[in-house]
Amino acid sequence: MRSEELFSRSGFYGFLLKSNVLLHREAVQAAIHALQPVVESQGRSTLRVLDLACGGWPVTIAEAMGAFPQSVFKYTGIDINPDQVVLASSRFPFPDNVVECRVLEGNAWDLESLDVKRRYSLVFSGMNLHHASPQEIWFLGRQLETRLRPGGLFFSHDVYRPDHEPYWPRPELIDGECAQLVPPARLAAAGVPSLSPGKQVDVFEPAWRVDYVQRMHRTLLERGGDQAGADSTVRHMRSRDYPLSTAEVRRIMKSRGFHAKVQRYDCSAEPLGPFVATCAFTRGE
Ligand SMILES: C[S@@+](CC[C@H](N)C(=O)[O-])C[C@H]1O[C@@H](n2cnc3c(N)ncnc32)[C@H](O)[C@@H]1O
Repeated sequence: MRSEELFSRSGFYGFLLKSNVLLHREAVQAAIHALQPVVESQGRSTLRVLDLACGGWPVTIAEAMGAFPQSVFKYTGIDINPDQVVLASSRFPFPDNVVECRVLEGNAWDLESLDVKRRYSLVFSGMNLHHASPQEIWFLGRQLETRLRPGGLFFSHDVYRPDHEPYWPRPELIDGECAQLVPPARLAAAGVPSLSPGKQVDVFEPAWRVDYVQRMHRTLLERGGDQAGADSTVRHMRSRDYPLSTAEVRRIMKSRGFHAKVQRYDCSAEPLGPFVATCAFTRGE
């Protein structure tokens, strides 16, 4: 996963962003809406933002911050791919009200060893939660408890399986490598409970997932993507994507004291709409 070609400078992910197949434009609007009360409650103080698995083009969060020109932001991104770290920190055009930009190389699922000990007004995660197990999501919630300011927001724009569809669990090995994002010993030390989503299928790829992958391939080609790029995207999805549903993530985060406002895009005209949602998580309400 470290330096997947799809998410490198010359990779195809830039086309996914431009073509809006994963509803980044809708996510910007939802993020602005969710951020509004946070900005208002923090008055003139600087808002610290933490972006997990930021990639080289952190467009969603950048546009959301840019929508509040009267506010000042300090941004910290984390990405595991050094190529994306360089791109985000030296080439990506953040808006003028972002007065500090740090991009750290590391594992965004295990924050302990990274220089992110402060409290943040906003933690953002775009298109990364769908690689995680229920236990890893719980662990993320636990880590965010001490990293969000009172009144802070955790905002997710991600692939979520439709709520009524069965879970297809992530295999232990992906492409011959251990698939875990967090070492099991770290999860055990944190006291992660056993969390099994309800109905699940183990053997055959469920129909919803075949549909999800096919819709992506078709839409990329229809929007002018090249065959090799569309193929590389679905190869990544087939091997790495094991999304939870919004209902499952809501339940897990609730057990860590987070309240979720979920926006689904099932009814949008976008072909991938049924598989994308935004979730705004706040604590203590
Ligand atoms: C699909 S892109 C998402 C980019 C951006 N956040 C967005 O919303 O479009 C996924 C990014 O996650 C990074 N990534 C994957 N696993 C990671 C991990 N464990 N820790 C940090 N970054 C990771 C990849 O290098 C890639 O840049």
